[in-house]
Amino acid sequence: MVGILAGCASVKTADFDDIQLYTLKNKAGTTVKITNYGATVTSIITADRDGKLADIALGYNDVSGYMNAVDKPYFGAVVGRYGNRIAKGKFSIDGEEYELATNNGANHLHGGVIGFDKVVWDAAVVDENAVKFSYLAKDGEEGYPGNLQISVTYTLTEDNELKLDYLATTDKKTPVNLTNHTYFNLKGEGEGTILDHELMINAKATTPVDIGLIPTGKIVPVVGTPFDFTTAKAIGRDIGKKDQQLEYGLGYDHNWVLDKGDKDGKMTLAATVYEPTTGRFMEVFTQEPGIQFYCGNFLAGNLKGKAGKTYVNRGGFCLETQHYPDSPNQPDFPSTLLAPGEEYKTSTIYKFSSK
Ligand code: BGC
Repeated sequence: MVGILAGCASVKTADFDDIQLYTLKNKAGTTVKITNYGATVTSIITADRDGKLADIALGYNDVSGYMNAVDKPYFGAVVGRYGNRIAKGKFSIDGEEYELATNNGANHLHGGVIGFDKVVWDAAVVDENAVKFSYLAKDGEEGYPGNLQISVTYTLTEDNELKLDYLATTDKKTPVNLTNHTYFNLKGEGEGTILDHELMINAKATTPVDIGLIPTGKIVPVVGTPFDFTTAKAIGRDIGKKDQQLEYGLGYDHNWVLDKGDKDGKMTLAATVYEPTTGRFMEVFTQEPGIQFYCGNFLAGNLKGKAGKTYVNRGGFCLETQHYPDSPNQPDFPSTLLAPGEEYKTSTIYKFSSK
């Protein structure tokens, strides 16, 4: 069922009268809340193996938390126009160089200073269990070429799947790479670290990075390295091993090259996560060729969550389905270029259960 929480009790600023909170709920008792500020997932309440409910998504109680977030964690938001980094905020299309806003040292991250996570989207209730958010990113916004009309529809199914359907069209060639930046803790938000969660990533290779977390352009096998999640293992098992890539990321903060990406446009099982004490299990399916596994290395214990508990370092993880970082500057990576007349269309599913 979709309900609009009138005026989103938390929204006090007159300028932000348009901000609403939407609630999706299914018969299994799963509840997902999403606001049109950043098309942000603010809460995901699911049952553990004993039927006990907990909120497994990190976030804030009110919209000012999202607006004023220290250290910009991007909790729950849709990030874009380009999820992850573009080196030095520069790329060329047909010989023309574009310069983007830089907001991560010398680099461009998650769409720039005011990315899609920091704008108010239009919202439309599609049906009982789906809500669609739309946004027109103007030509020149954060330096990108082209008016980009985008939408993201969130659907909660009776099978406990949260489905994200992304669509975009443009009037000039532009890179596009949209993803969702929800941080999960399957024990519950604020319930310590995620290091005991057992993760499987359906990928035999990653795209290693330099010290600024920009891909080197190489695609490197995971076998024999801490990056091998082909068989499920605890996130914390190898995270402390001596490894230059782990040093650069302060832990895992990398793009995995999914085994069966978008070749035939079908959904691929990209990752699974199991939390042993609660039995919660999550599967991620996508049409994207990559996934950024980021384990909250930049959470510094200075944020308090919805229940007032501190989000500790590595207190949440993201599995961001995506094209590879810095693709606009990497000719050997799958292209992220969208041209007029084409449609950017991609879907991702987060499926919740327990065992
Ligand atoms: C990036 C991290 C970044 C985090 C929050 C992730 O997607 O890979 O490097 O710190 O988002 O901004």
